[in-house]
Amino acid sequence: MSSTLSCISCGKTYSRGSQLRCKCGDLLEVEHNFSDISADMFDSRLGTSSRPYNSGVWRFKELINPSIENQFIVSRPEGNTNLYEHKLLREYSSLKQIALKHEGENPTGSFKDRGMTVGMSEALASGAKIVACASTGNTSASLAAYAAQAGLKCAVFIPEGNIAFGKLAQAMAYGAKVLQVKGNFDDAMRIVQEASRELGMYLLNSVNPWRIEGQKSIIFELLQQRNWEPPDWIIVPAGNLGNTSAFGKALRETKSLGLIDKVPKLASIQAEGANPFYRLWKGEEKILDPMKPDTIASAIKIGNPVSWKKAIRSIKMTRGVVSQVNDQEIMEAKAIVDRCGIGCEPASAASLAGAKKLVSEGVISRNENVVCILTGNLLKDPEVTVKYHMGQLEGITSGYANKPKVLEADLDSVRKVLGIGVLGVEV
Ligand code: F0G
Repeated sequence: MSSTLSCISCGKTYSRGSQLRCKCGDLLEVEHNFSDISADMFDSRLGTSSRPYNSGVWRFKELINPSIENQFIVSRPEGNTNLYEHKLLREYSSLKQIALKHEGENPTGSFKDRGMTVGMSEALASGAKIVACASTGNTSASLAAYAAQAGLKCAVFIPEGNIAFGKLAQAMAYGAKVLQVKGNFDDAMRIVQEASRELGMYLLNSVNPWRIEGQKSIIFELLQQRNWEPPDWIIVPAGNLGNTSAFGKALRETKSLGLIDKVPKLASIQAEGANPFYRLWKGEEKILDPMKPDTIASAIKIGNPVSWKKAIRSIKMTRGVVSQVNDQEIMEAKAIVDRCGIGCEPASAASLAGAKKLVSEGVISRNENVVCILTGNLLKDPEVTVKYHMGQLEGITSGYANKPKVLEADLDSVRKVLGIGVLGVEV
């Protein structure tokens, strides 16, 4: 039942091991020989506390990495994230049915843990000693945590001065060697690939096809939470395009295995200042045209996404769309998600901002059922949140600002600030 790796361009196949890219230079994809798959089997594992099935990734082991031995599995455990609904979301998007799946509830606060548990387990199984990644922050936080669990050395390549504080703190605290590259994420990605090749580090970016296998579980879990009834649309923020790639593969597989009878459409949402995938999809270019990225959503500040070929296949296969939202739209959508008591980091809110835009353009109808993915936790990037509410973000209007009030430490001041009279009645 061992899985093989095959090239998405030339079709050459490889047995599993440390080969993560085809000799022709293109990306590899994991292929499984599925057997004995049923929704009942996955459902019977819900709520278990035994490893590894207590993880929302390994619950679907047969769809992700059927033959790995349990001794190699490094799991926190991850997944088991919730779906949320709120009146404000319906009002804001004009959709009658909208839910958010909060991947910020993973152990290190982002969806990256789902791919990392599978990638790190493969790293261990293949005898890796040092693991590495380039990152806008979340991958490095996740890699550092899982490497610490696995007892492997770890190096993370991050763009100097360009990652949110919460993420930098995590990578440092979990003990990674933090390498701040002078340049942007794309420079860090280029150098980590070179370094992995030349210095024998095991690369754990989403070019590693096992990361993609783990991220498929977002879709499996979401479908399971809905009793295997797919929504009409799944909307996801798009940066390096690992999720878009993983979601298409997960939907193709669940459909061909008969776990669902209709494939939901996938909408990938880019930030306007980091939109090479959007431009490709619009037909402005035949191949991806890299750019110098610029957006407040630092997690998706990426100008040369590695997984674009897999991602475009996902969009076509699901008859989906790619859209873009600007920083103002991202910050407004984030303020709404936060105000619901759910909360997310800026990049995550691209999904809700995208939902609103696609409804206003008539691409999504008000009666359709939509699930937006929130990719990261609010606490990852507290600086942007505080600045938004203080009205201190350059070029952004803080329409939903909730500014703290400063007051003297006496009851009269409290009454005045809260607008409450002597008897507690509003004045
Ligand atoms: N949202 C968040 C919070 C992210 O951290 C990322 C990617 C994305 C969305 C985009 O996902 O790459 O699958 O299209 N963060 C990577 C990192 C690049 O290094 O943490 P994608």
